[in-house]
Amino acid sequence: MNIILLGPPGAGKGTQARKLVEERDMIQLSTGDMLRAARTSGTEMGKIVADVMDRGELVTDEIVIGLIREQLTSGKTGGGYIFDGFPRTLAQADALGALLAELNENLDRVIEMQVDDDALVARITARSTCGNCGEVYNDNTKPIPADHVCSSCGQKAQFTRRADDNEDSLKTRLLAYYKQTSPLIGYYYAKGDLASINGLASMDTVAASISGVLAK
Ligand code: AP5
Repeated sequence: MNIILLGPPGAGKGTQARKLVEERDMIQLSTGDMLRAARTSGTEMGKIVADVMDRGELVTDEIVIGLIREQLTSGKTGGGYIFDGFPRTLAQADALGALLAELNENLDRVIEMQVDDDALVARITARSTCGNCGEVYNDNTKPIPADHVCSSCGQKAQFTRRADDNEDSLKTRLLAYYKQTSPLIGYYYAKGDLASINGLASMDTVAASISGVLAK
């Protein structure tokens, strides 16, 4: 089963993708994580995208489609792909359709996670991530353990905040979502692939809604 988790920054796409990886052995393909890894490793591409990401703008279609193509043709197998943060433009959606067709794969579901803007700002400004395994924490809903031992990887870790998790970048990220990504809701609705869920509920309730969609 191949699915897209679609939603604005902070909707909970990464959180739910990680649950699906654990519970269903699916493969998470997060273009945001791929781009951050490219930045950290200091590749030419990483240098090119760093400023764009920090401003909260979208990286070019060409770069992200290339990253996804690389992953889909790498021969990894599992219980299907979770596209997290991709596609984000109509050109990326068309490219994904073509890539999956080339590989004789289908897109089974597009799950739109609906969350209002106030909740997004509160979530993102309180987010931190385990430096060892990438587990996501939140000062309000899932605080960093007092002993700094990550509940996911069991290691004592550094917990970091993302460079683009500030109010200025977030404004640009939200604008990019509404301008460039939200047209995908209509695109996938018209194809009959879309299911919308309430992303404002607790993490467990959101996970149950996603399971409900996948069971249909
Ligand atoms: P990316 O890394 O994809 O970021 P994003 O889409 O802005 O989404 P986030 O990772 O911020 O949020 P999320 O929905 O995963 O929420 P999370 O689960 O962490 O992209 C970053 C940048 O890379 C882009 O701005 C762009 O520059 C570039 N980029 C990436 N992909 C691209 C593409 N395809 N094309 C072009 N450019 C691209 O949750 C957020 C917080 O809320 C956490 O603290 C979490 O603990 C908490 N939380 C989660 N669920 C709940 C809940 N149900 N209740 C309460 N709290 C919750």
